[in-house]
Parts: sequence; C-alpha cells; structure tokens
Amino acid sequence: MIEQEKIEEIKRQTDIVDVIGRYVQLKKLGKNYRGLCPFHSEKNPSFYVNPEKGIYYCFGCKKGGNAINFLMEYEKLDFPDAIKRLAKNLGIEIDTTKGLRYKELYEANELACQFYAQCLSKDIGRRGQEYLTRRSIKLDKLQDFRLGYAPASGGLTTFMRQKGVSPARLQQAGLVSTNRELFRDRLIFPIFNLSGRIIGFGGRGIDDYIQPKYLNSPETPIFKKGEGLYGLYQSKEQIRSTGEVLLVEGYFDLLSIYQYGFDNICAPLGTSLTEQQALLLSRFARKGIILFDGDLSGIKAALRAIGLLIDAQVDVFVTLLPEDSDPDTYINAHGADALHELIRGAVDFFHFYRGVVKTDTVAQEISLIKDLIQIIGKIKDPIRYDRYLKHAAHVFDIPVDTIQREIDGRPKAPKQPVQTTRISQEEELMAMVLNGHEHIALVKKYLKPGDLVEDGIKRLYKKLLKAENFDITDLSEIVDEALRERLLAGIMRGEPVSRDGILGAIKKYKGQVMEQRLIKKQNEAYKRGDEAAGEQYSKELLALKRELLNINAEETAGEEE
Ligand code: GTP
Ligand code: MN
Repeated sequence: MIEQEKIEEIKRQTDIVDVIGRYVQLKKLGKNYRGLCPFHSEKNPSFYVNPEKGIYYCFGCKKGGNAINFLMEYEKLDFPDAIKRLAKNLGIEIDTTKGLRYKELYEANELACQFYAQCLSKDIGRRGQEYLTRRSIKLDKLQDFRLGYAPASGGLTTFMRQKGVSPARLQQAGLVSTNRELFRDRLIFPIFNLSGRIIGFGGRGIDDYIQPKYLNSPETPIFKKGEGLYGLYQSKEQIRSTGEVLLVEGYFDLLSIYQYGFDNICAPLGTSLTEQQALLLSRFARKGIILFDGDLSGIKAALRAIGLLIDAQVDVFVTLLPEDSDPDTYINAHGADALHELIRGAVDFFHFYRGVVKTDTVAQEISLIKDLIQIIGKIKDPIRYDRYLKHAAHVFDIPVDTIQREIDGRPKAPKQPVQTTRISQEEELMAMVLNGHEHIALVKKYLKPGDLVEDGIKRLYKKLLKAENFDITDLSEIVDEALRERLLAGIMRGEPVSRDGILGAIKKYKGQVMEQRLIKKQNEAYKRGDEAAGEQYSKELLALKRELLNINAEETAGEEE
C-alpha cells in the first residue's frame, strides 16, 4: 500500500509532458503538445497532451486520461506500479528501506556540493578561482551549475562530520574511498538528475600533472554514468521549448559555451553516448546537433551518436569543429557569433556520413550505402523517411524500390480516419464545469443536480459537489469509459474558463436546453390530453424563466458591489 499523501505528492509533481514525452515525440502547439498517437497507428497527429490540465487525449482513438492512466495503458502497469514508476522518475522514494538509503545519499551529495561551492568562494579556493579565470569561465552566468573546488588539503570529511554525516555514508556516496577523499585540487562539477538532485560529481584536475585529468564519482545506487546527461537539468526547458539540443563532449565545452547563451545543451558523463542517454534526449528534443571535435575520435563518436539518436527518433545534424579545437577553445578564439554560424551550417547525418567515410573502392562505397540505408530504415516519421529515401536514391543513383527492398519488411501504417467526438450539451456543460472547477462555488449556486437528466453526468456532478479536492483528471471511478472519453475530449478542447464564461454556459443550458426540454414535455402532455401535467410543465417553465431573471439580477448586483 502506498500512502494517499504520497500519491498526491507524486501526482502534484508529475509533469505529464515529461512522462508521455518518453514514448511520444511531442511538439508544442499553443497550450497543448501534440504527437502521433501511441495507441493507434496514424499519419497525422491527433494525440494531445495538456500540461496545465495534466491530461492527454487522442481525438482519433479517444484514449485519454492523466499520467497514471497513460502508464497503465501504455506499459500495461497496474495502479501501484504506475505510481511507483512516476515516483522513480521524480526521485521520490516509496520503498521505505531503500528510500532511506537513497535519501541519505542525496543528502550527502547536497552537503558535499555546498562544501565545494563554499571552498571555491573562499581563500582556500583561490587556485580554483584563478583556474576559472584562466579558462574564461564566469560564474555569474553559471549559477545553476553550482560549481565548486575541492582543496588539495581536503576537508570534506571534517565538514561532513560537523553536519552529522558519517565517513561510512561518504564512502557509500563515493566521495571517500579507503579513508581518502576522492576529489583533491579539482574543479568540481555537480551532476544533477532531472529533479535537480545531485547524484554525483565530476572533477577536473587544476594542474596537468594531476591525473587522471577528469575524475567522476564511482557508480552508486543513485549514480549511473550511462543514464544521465550533464547539463540536462539546467537546459531541459530550453531544449523542450526549442525542440533542439546541442550535444557536446565534455563538461568544459558545455559550460564554456552555455555562458554565451547556448543553453539548450548537454554532454554525456565522461563516456561516449549510450542508448539510454539517446532515449532520454528524445524525450525533450526532436532535433539533435552534434558539436564534436574535428579529430578522428570526434568523428567516430559522432558516427556512433548518430545511430543511437536516429534509433531514438531524433533528427540528427552534425557540426564538426576544425581539427585541434573543441567548442570551448573555439568560442574563446573566435567568439559566440562564429560558433552560431558554424552551428547554423550543421549538415544532416546523411551528408555528414558521406563526407567522412572513405569510399576509394566500390566495396567501401557499397558498405557506406548499406550503412546509410540501414540508418534511414530506422526513421519512423513518414515524411522524413520518404525524404531521406528519395535523397539516397538520387545521390547513389539506385532505384527507390531497391532501397526499400533492402530496408524490407517495413510495416506501413494503415490509415485511420479521425472521427470527431460527438458530445451532448449536458456533457459539454460538465466538461466546462470540470475545466473551470475553480468556479465550483458559483456553479453550485445556480446549477442543481436535478437540473441534469443524464445519469452519468448527474452522478459525476453530485460527486463533484461533495468532494473537497476533486481531481478532474481522474474520472475513471465515477463515470463509465465512454463518457469519460467524451468528457476528456471536452476538457482537452476547452479554453480556460472565466467566471462569466461559466455563468453564460449555465444560463445557456437553462435558457435553451432545459427550456426546450420542458416545452417538448408540455406539448406532449397537451397532445395526449393530460391537462394537469401540461399545467405543471407550464409552471415549471415559468419558474425557470424567473430563475434566469434572478441569476441576471444577482450577478449584475454582485458586479456593482
Ligand atoms: P579540457 O581539457 O578541460 O578542456 O577538457 P576536454 O573536455 O576538452 O577534454 P577531452 O576532450 O579530453 O574530454 C572530453 C570529456 O571526456 C571530458 O569532459 C570528460 O568527461 C571525459 N574525460 C577526458 N579525460 C578523462 C579522463 O582522464 N578520465 C575520465 N574518466 N574522463 C575523461
Ligand atoms: Mn577542452
């Protein structure tokens, strides 16, 4: 059992775009994000995610709900497992024994980060300050990175003891190994997870005789080098809103150009890019620009990254820097404008591949063609796939069919017409009430459950009036599946609701829908000769008219107060 409080916390902290973005490439469209629906095959996106409301909805197949519903549906998880998954993404621990251990490691890292940052700002950090100046790093532009300095004389263990952190725990956090502090006379780069907690550190030797040049925390339960990316926490909003990410090789490259405004950027953690990191990036970016050194190892790393990013459905472009320079040295020698210019000239993976792979013999040419065809075959976006296919056919002078046969077995998505979801007037009203449920007091005053006739809507409305904290994304227990889908469609389509808007909707519902209903009943009663019933309906009609006048009077009076 997971405590209700914990569930609420997890729900509150969950960013639905972040969750769904792991599986679906989403593109911002006004207040919503849109992408190809993962639940049915389609060519035109009809799958919408609204981060404000915390819901997704597909206008094609009508699946929808909140982040928990998404995980349950897509990953076939049950409710507790979906909650656990969300908690894991957020770094929230719900397994109590494990949780304690993780929490202690996060705390140790946080304190260590404070210690290193303090050292850098004091006299003891003079070597660190001088080093940064020498390398043209300005800390004021890089506050979010919380850089630090580990003095040659150490001091972390003492600092931590004062804070009540035992050497044993420092050891678990990887900060101390066999009674020796790991980082000495190093510039410290704290490494953050996506929720902003520090999971480990990178450290660069201040002098070239300090070996190795870069040293990272060892892997711990919270730090896995192949899983995170340096700078992603600081850059993720920028990456998400531009849809583009710059990928560089190292810590220094990143910081050096970030301070000039290249702030949609990240770097692997001292290893070459992994599949997991590429997938992680694809949650935020549609397009990746690789910005690596122009030497052989840079080219090799770029080729590897291309494959992984294309696999993760990120469109890849490459900028190779001149040999002997990296982004850091380049920007310091030529300035930010020159680097912008270089990046603007990035070539797509196809051109890059052709440019760097040797094709002196026919055999080498064939191998290049096959490699490229294999990469193109992985592209799922139909338009991009088609473009690259035709481009390859043209460049290599090979018929498109031949290439397609080589790629073979590529399943074609069956076309599915997008149907519009029809929703009744009562459902529309309720969707609006849910959408603007901050105005519930006003709604309660003028709309009674008895005004509604549809069973599901009536039941939902009663619940809504009773509940203290009503979660509009979670209707599954209250209404049936079909109604839930229609309401979600209404919520997703709905604009933010103002007080006047919701009042207008209630008046319209009463003045039109309810009135028509009564008139119809009245006519039927008279037709079958039931005078008494007819009279009764007339009275009700009159009462309804009076009520409408009342609402108008009260609300105008209210405005004048
Ligand atoms: P600077 O010399 O400080 O400018 O670093 P750089 O980023 O130009 O160095 P390089 O291109 O050699 O390395 C790129 C990245 O590889 C670094 O940011 C580190 O993450 C990693 N790296 C480099 N050298 C070492 C090393 O000796 N050990 C480890 N673990 N990682 C290294
Ligand atoms: Mn460098």
